[in-house]
Amino acid sequence: MSAAIQLDGVSVTRDGRAVLADVSLRAAPGETLSVLGSSGSGKTTLLRVVAGFLAPSSGTVRVGEVVAADSGRSLLPPEERGIAMVFQDLALWPHLTVHGNLAFGLEARRVPRAERDARIASILRRVGLAGKERRHPGELSGGERQRVAIARALVVEPRAVLLDEPLSNLDVGLKQELLGLFRELLGERGATALYVTHDPREARALGERTAVLDAGRVVHVGSLDALRARSDLPVARDLLDALDR
Ligand SMILES: Nc1ncnc2c1ncn2[C@@H]1O[C@H](COP(=O)(O)OP(=O)(O)OP(=O)(O)O)[C@@H](O)[C@H]1O
Ligand SMILES: [Mg+2]
Repeated sequence: MSAAIQLDGVSVTRDGRAVLADVSLRAAPGETLSVLGSSGSGKTTLLRVVAGFLAPSSGTVRVGEVVAADSGRSLLPPEERGIAMVFQDLALWPHLTVHGNLAFGLEARRVPRAERDARIASILRRVGLAGKERRHPGELSGGERQRVAIARALVVEPRAVLLDEPLSNLDVGLKQELLGLFRELLGERGATALYVTHDPREARALGERTAVLDAGRVVHVGSLDALRARSDLPVARDLLDALDR
């Protein structure tokens, strides 16, 4: 079910400037790789390239065994990549209910109605939103909207899921609770995940490996402890600052 995500020498140039520069990264099937970087370092751009919304200027993107983009050309449209995304601004459809937001992707995949509704009910229970199916996004709290966005991404049972700072603006307790839940849900489904954040506490809670982006370059892949030891990287101290506060 889950697919490796692999980038080799991926660059993205915009307005004559490299927004991503020679990025090579691999997330193994079922792995959650966190991507840590300050504002403007290229995190959202990286996810857009993997999702297929943006073709890289050069380099190769593989999803599972398939080459999805190569040398400036997208070879596989987003809907054929089996990847779901939680957008930085969530991008929930305001005119649809919670149920409608989740049903959309399942209908597009022609999941029969009974199974569709069972899957929606099941994931809404898991994220603590049972009973709120008929609300519109505008009738939910910020944290509830973030749960809807995560549920909408996972309900289609993607091979990989890309999350763009999905838990920003939540208080620490709620963040920890949702991170725990998110790990559980990913573990059950075995989906590969790229989890973008500028908060090292989130990267630490997700465990495993963290890739660090700095001005469009991957400057580190490994544990946060190993990052701390990188005295050659000025950005390491800035990024890890929040852990020491
Ligand atoms: N459509 C675009 N045209 C030109 N430059 C762009 C475009 N989109 C993004 N950029 C630039 O690319 C760089 C990386 O942007 P990106 O959105 O990937 O950063 P980010 O790491 O996600 O930042 P944040 O943490 O603030 O969300 C920024 O300097 C940004 O101004
Ligand atoms: Mg961003």
